[in-house]
Amino acid sequence: MSHHHNEHDDHDHETPIKTPKQLIIVVLAAFVVPIIAIVLLVQYVAHNEKTGAGSDAMTEQAIAERIKPVANPVIKDPNAAVVLKSGEEVFKTTCTGCHSAGLMGAPKVGDKAAWGPRIGQGLDTLFKHALDGYKQMPAQKGAFEDAEIRSAIVYMANQSGGSLKEPAAK
Ligand code: HEC
Repeated sequence: MSHHHNEHDDHDHETPIKTPKQLIIVVLAAFVVPIIAIVLLVQYVAHNEKTGAGSDAMTEQAIAERIKPVANPVIKDPNAAVVLKSGEEVFKTTCTGCHSAGLMGAPKVGDKAAWGPRIGQGLDTLFKHALDGYKQMPAQKGAFEDAEIRSAIVYMANQSGGSLKEPAAK
């Protein structure tokens, strides 16, 4: 009798499943729970895709915005000798577009009255304004070497009654 009792105890420790009915419930649960989890997961993923495609995250503009290079780097050969353009060359390439005709209120080259007070600010301020942009004046940063922008300003100012000194080449 005592032997049989012990065996029964061991059985109790091994598993709480004692009847076939319990076994069926456990087996069903083992299948049903993962299936519910999978269904929920699939719904979650499908829903995410829907908002992804429907939202403006996929518009051409948004994509172009995302793949555009950071800060439009200008690739330069570090070994290439730097030949700086003269102020006149830079002026004729770009600045003339606005500064010859006085577009958008740009001070015309040769217009002493327009340039006088601007030159009075000093080359450093003029340079900063040309580099970073100033009111309608678009930023020139990156379009030319800094020294080239300075030279162009000196050229324009000196064509307009100024007597700025060409910055010494580094
Ligand atoms: C798209 C037209 C445009 C181009 C191109 C342009 N500028 Fe200007 N620039 C302006 C305008 C407009 C102003 C007047 C801004 C103001 O004071 O309202 C101006 C003003 C300036 C000033 C005076 C800033 C001050 O503090 O008074 C300098 C210096 C200058 N430009 C340099 C240059 C140089 C150098 C280039 C070429 C590398 C250049 N600009 C090209 C439109 C232009």
